[in-house]
Amino acid sequence: MSYWSHEYLLRNWGGPMVQAEFLKEAQRAFFVPRIFSGLNLFLDKAGLLPDAVDLVAKECKSKKAFLVTDAYAVRFAPKVMRPYEKRHGITFEVWAKAKPDAPIDTVMECAQRMRAFGPDLIFALGGGSSIDTAKGAWLLYEHPDANIAILSPLIPLNLRNKAKLVAIPTTSGTGSEVTGIAVISFPDGVKLGTGGALPEFVPDFALLDPTFTVGMPPELTAGTGGDALAHAVDGFMAPRADELNQAIALKVIKMVFEWLPKAYKNSNDLMPRMKMQQAAMMAGIPLSNAGSGISHALGHTIGGLYHIHHGAMVLLFLPYELQIYSKATSRYLEICDTLGIRDNDSDTKSLANLIEKIRNLMSEVNLPVSLKDAGVSRGDFEGHLDTILDQTPTDPAFYFGWFDLTREQLMDLFLCAYEGNLLDMNSEIWR
Ligand SMILES: [Fe+2]
Repeated sequence: MSYWSHEYLLRNWGGPMVQAEFLKEAQRAFFVPRIFSGLNLFLDKAGLLPDAVDLVAKECKSKKAFLVTDAYAVRFAPKVMRPYEKRHGITFEVWAKAKPDAPIDTVMECAQRMRAFGPDLIFALGGGSSIDTAKGAWLLYEHPDANIAILSPLIPLNLRNKAKLVAIPTTSGTGSEVTGIAVISFPDGVKLGTGGALPEFVPDFALLDPTFTVGMPPELTAGTGGDALAHAVDGFMAPRADELNQAIALKVIKMVFEWLPKAYKNSNDLMPRMKMQQAAMMAGIPLSNAGSGISHALGHTIGGLYHIHHGAMVLLFLPYELQIYSKATSRYLEICDTLGIRDNDSDTKSLANLIEKIRNLMSEVNLPVSLKDAGVSRGDFEGHLDTILDQTPTDPAFYFGWFDLTREQLMDLFLCAYEGNLLDMNSEIWR
């Protein structure tokens, strides 16, 4: 199978060109959905003024809406659908077969149902996988012959001829409710991030009801919160990140340190839920508009191979990303300023403070700091090392970063991450 992200020219020239720091001044664009957050987004009765229900329903001329969800989040579907049915006479078809990692066969099945029903509004209700399934199915609904595997950032998707998309997250991590990215998985194990030339996958509406995230298991709260933190740091550090994206990213970083431990300790406390839901959504904005980082490339490879939660994996690699990017940029010092942990006499000490703070958070919410802690067996890891080293550089999050790593550097990084040891940035390999 060939994927756009494996394309030689794109990897070696396209990625670095698009991400080049100096190019951010050439043209800036900022894509977000219309976002509504709060406890009163799904009212059965109309109020004095038009609300989110009215605004969304206006997009549904045919009065037919299709709701994509999964076996868990389908419990929230009646609350979502009721006001649209009662107040605007909209009929729904519910498809609740979304699966983790949005496998391509489920995306195709979903698209087939969509085509048979013919909606002009698609609701995606669930975690990132449900929302990404809806994005992929939406594309195949509008363009049945589209080949998702080859949709590089150079190809326009030409969406919104048949339907618009409403995203309603029930976890707080992927940020898919605001991003122009869909991660679809393929039978050979590849998890492909795709989004087309313009971020057309950015939903038209994002509706955030914090009650949908109440009761999330602590491990999922920790993992998804870790993902949000990694998106914010990646987005802040990305070469193309401008002031607008950086401002949002810095606020998210502060919020995650403040609210994630509280959300982790008590899954029924609404305020931490609300704050983490906001933080995860906000973190998706720089991820989508500025870019990702190598924490994601490294995390994708290991997480995919050992089926470890995406957020846990990308957060594990975040300290290494900061170490490596500190060679190219001093932006990490601004994160230190935001968190009040900058050492005015030593940048090295500031970086160490930041890494320590991240690792303390990981310990507080029981996320692994090493691959060994994550349950990866040494023998198996060494047996797969060549595959890991081959696969990581094909991930767009890898080659859209500041600079390429050599195979030797990557190997050192993975071996250090296995034990949880930080990199020796003074060693020959890293100088
Ligand atoms: Fe992520």
